[in-house]
Amino acid sequence: MINGSNNGNSVNAEKNGNENQIEVKIAEIKKVAEGTNTYSFEKIDGGKLRNVDAGSHIDLFLANGMIRQYSLTKAGDELSSYTVAIKRDRESRGGSVFIHDNFKVGETLKISNPRNNFALDENADETVLIAGGIGITPIMAMIRRLEALGKSWKLYYANRTKSETAFYDELSEYPQVKFHFDDESNGVLDIASIISSESDKASFYCCGPLPMLENFEENTKHLPSEQVNIEYFTAKEEVATEGEYTVELSQEGQTFSIEKGKTILQTLLDNEIEVDYGCEAGVCGTCETRLISGIPDHRDEVLTDAQKESNSLIMICCSGAKSEKLVLDI
Ligand code: FES
Repeated sequence: MINGSNNGNSVNAEKNGNENQIEVKIAEIKKVAEGTNTYSFEKIDGGKLRNVDAGSHIDLFLANGMIRQYSLTKAGDELSSYTVAIKRDRESRGGSVFIHDNFKVGETLKISNPRNNFALDENADETVLIAGGIGITPIMAMIRRLEALGKSWKLYYANRTKSETAFYDELSEYPQVKFHFDDESNGVLDIASIISSESDKASFYCCGPLPMLENFEENTKHLPSEQVNIEYFTAKEEVATEGEYTVELSQEGQTFSIEKGKTILQTLLDNEIEVDYGCEAGVCGTCETRLISGIPDHRDEVLTDAQKESNSLIMICCSGAKSEKLVLDI
């Protein structure tokens, strides 16, 4: 998701627990397209960062109090820097515009360790990647990894214009990359044709704007779910605020009533229970919590259908309850 990828959700960083935060400095800022920069971060002490799998994202804890999620453009072990690509979003509510206007080389900030909700199947014989706009960011990490492994891959990459196409020069080197520019075409990328023209044995990945993801989901329904991978950066469903159930915290030994208009996360934060969270929209995975009993009303885009059906995990920022009580492992 998550996603370059920002999800447009803001939260108060001061409320968030900080065990998962690393202090870094901005080592490099590079323009990679009109309106899009890459930002590289290094540890203050120059040490190595945690290993990264392709498709991972990190949280940036911004000085304006917001937490934003951005995908890493490179995977690997023993990395000395993490790089994200960020598009100055026309609709930004403070994340990407703040970053573009305020980030300077040498300044410091806190980031989280990487989290991966969009993992690459490195054993697939064929990989078909579809990216829209800044959704290319996690896909770049996948391409670099697949290249390093000598695996077969293809990319369909849509943008409004060529000048807004991040990593255009690098990707132009590969004959298996098909660019689509809306301003030079008669419409948006034809996902249905792409899926039907590719092998039904391929692993498919899509990251981009919500209409593209919904279109992709619709056109891959016939494929086994393990071959279909989507990274959402904006919430598809509304968060559950219907309330009128209770949440018991098994470790804390406390029980709270979730009132109408509140989420589980908001209720816990209001009661000074420390929990990790990021997007507050069910797309980053930070608030994942083990469920001991009860039936959740899942509203997230992170858990698989099988995980949702198992009733063993819940994203407490957005999901509610279908039972009168949930018991959480907190
Ligand atoms: S805080 Fe992002 S999924 Fe819950």
